[in-house]
Formats: sequence, C-alpha cells, structure tokens
Amino acid sequence: MKHFLKETDFALHEIPEVFAIARNCKAQRGRHVPPTLDGQSWALIFSKSSTRTRVSFEVGIRELGGHSLFLNQNDIQLGRGESIADTTRVLSRYLHGLVVRTFDHADVEALAKYGSVPVINALTDFLHPCQIYADAFTLAERWSRETGDFLASLKGKKIAFLGDCACNVANSWILGANLFGMKVALAGPSQYAPGEGIRALLGDEGFAADAFTFTEDPREAVRGADVVYTDVWVSMGKEDEMRDRTAALKPYSVTAELFGEAKDDALFMHCLPAYVGYEVSQEVLDSSRSIVFDQAENRLHMQKAILSVLGSPRS
Ligand code: CP
Ligand code: NVA
Repeated sequence: MKHFLKETDFALHEIPEVFAIARNCKAQRGRHVPPTLDGQSWALIFSKSSTRTRVSFEVGIRELGGHSLFLNQNDIQLGRGESIADTTRVLSRYLHGLVVRTFDHADVEALAKYGSVPVINALTDFLHPCQIYADAFTLAERWSRETGDFLASLKGKKIAFLGDCACNVANSWILGANLFGMKVALAGPSQYAPGEGIRALLGDEGFAADAFTFTEDPREAVRGADVVYTDVWVSMGKEDEMRDRTAALKPYSVTAELFGEAKDDALFMHCLPAYVGYEVSQEVLDSSRSIVFDQAENRLHMQKAILSVLGSPRS
C-alpha cells in the first residue's frame, strides 16, 4: 500500500510521472480528464485549520470523479479517545483513502500502519510534503521555460529559508531540496534551528545528515539565492509562544532590503497564510517576483496528481 507521508515516499524514478500528471491536470483543467477516482470516497481528517489544503483536496477529489468527506477530528470518536488503530481499521472498510492534517507526525504513520487504504499527509508538526511538491512544481514551471527540461531545471538552484527553521515547511524543504537536487540555506535564531528529527530523516533517506546550511545571519543565507522562502513565525499549535517568537524572529523578516541581497531575478515564495509586517513586508509579498498565488493554485494540480497515483488500483 502506497502512502504519501513524506517527500521521499515517491521514489526518484516515480517523481517525473507525478509531475507530468500534475502538468496534464493543469493543462486540461475544465476539459476531459480521466476520472481516476471514479466511485471512490476519500475522507479529510483535519485537527487544524486550513484554507488551501482543504479546499484544493476537496475540489481535486471531486474533479477526479471521487467524493470527499470532511471530518473534523473532534466530530468523530477519535477526538473522544478512540484509538488511531481502531479508527483507521474501521475507516478502511468504508473509504478508498485518507487525507490527514494533524499535530504529531507519528499519528499519520500510525494511520498508515494500521489501515489498509492510502494515507496522504496534509501537514503535521514535522512535515508538509504536499506543499513542497507544489512549490517545486511552481519553480520548475518558471525555470523550465528556458531549458525545456522540467524537473532538471531545479538542479543546483539555491533556496534560502528564513524564520522558524524548525517548522514543518522548513523541514520539508530540507528534505525536498535534497530530493530535487537543490541547495538549501536556512537562517533563523539558534533556538529555531533545524532539529534532530530532520537530520535523522535525511540520514534514513540516504542523504548526508548535514545536507543543508544553517546560519543566524539572514544576509548570509539570502546572498546568491534563486528563491527566498518564508513561513509564519507562529505555526498552528504554537500560539502560546507568540510573544517570544515575534521578538526573536524579527531580524528574519523578508523586507525589500533583505530580498535585495538575493539574485536579481530571485523569486519570493510563502506557503501562506502570510502575516504582513511580520515574516514578510507588503512590498515583497505584492512584488512582481512574488509567486505565492501560483504556489497556492498549484496545490490543486499537484494534489490531483498525488491522488491519481495513490488512488489508482495498481498502487
Ligand atoms: N499552505 C497551506 O497549507 O495552507 P492552509 O493551512 O490554508 O491549508
Ligand atoms: N508552519 C505553518 C504552515 C501553515 C501552512 C503551520 O504549521 O501553521
């Protein structure tokens, strides 16, 4: 049974097919696309808020001919203490797949372990792989215009990630950059440096545990970057730390001045939602080099590709 819990759950040889399906979904949207989820029912089990992920999955499942059920964790018995193992065994009897947004990454692993249907990680505290696949697609779309070679256009490019370098999106970019052949330079305060978990995962996936750079100097990370990426300073579940985080992360705000240290044609990315005046200035967010809404749109096309592969009878 194939799952998508982390970027490396698709083997290197499978990734070109996933990206090709996403390109086809984008090009063919509104026209006839094979209904690869025809007759299928998928549940979205969410324990956290979501705009992009929820809507793009619900629309994507519908456009592939399937049906989706949105289950807030607190509306099902999981929220009252029914075990993950029992929940997933029961849901596997009704459904064709699960899309899960939760806190503890071990919970999506347990859902995958005990169930008998594909599980897609729609964000945990540790990783956000759907985001990084859509982001890589967004960059390849731009850069392959010059070379014509879609995924190869990512190779050797430098992404600078600023802010909370221990968050899910940072971790996923560390893994994703290695997978796609990019260089990743992170900058943030030392207390928000990449943790042991991502180093261990890099090692498990066959990469060097230090296959990224981390500095407390934002300029050093941004210098020569092809992409400057940031995320919220206060991730979901960390609201109690808002005051400390806002104070410590202030020097890592992506202002026009800091963005100016990157390459002249560098792109600005943010997974959204954005908090203007905190991790990014309005000027950078609205600039012609900001591609945040392309990223958001591509969540739909990439997730349709992931669903198509995982939902097909052969997977
Ligand atoms: N980027 C992202 O996952 O957005 P949502 O939290 O709105 O789903
Ligand atoms: N790091 C953020 C990502 C939101 C899409 C969070 O977990 O809240």
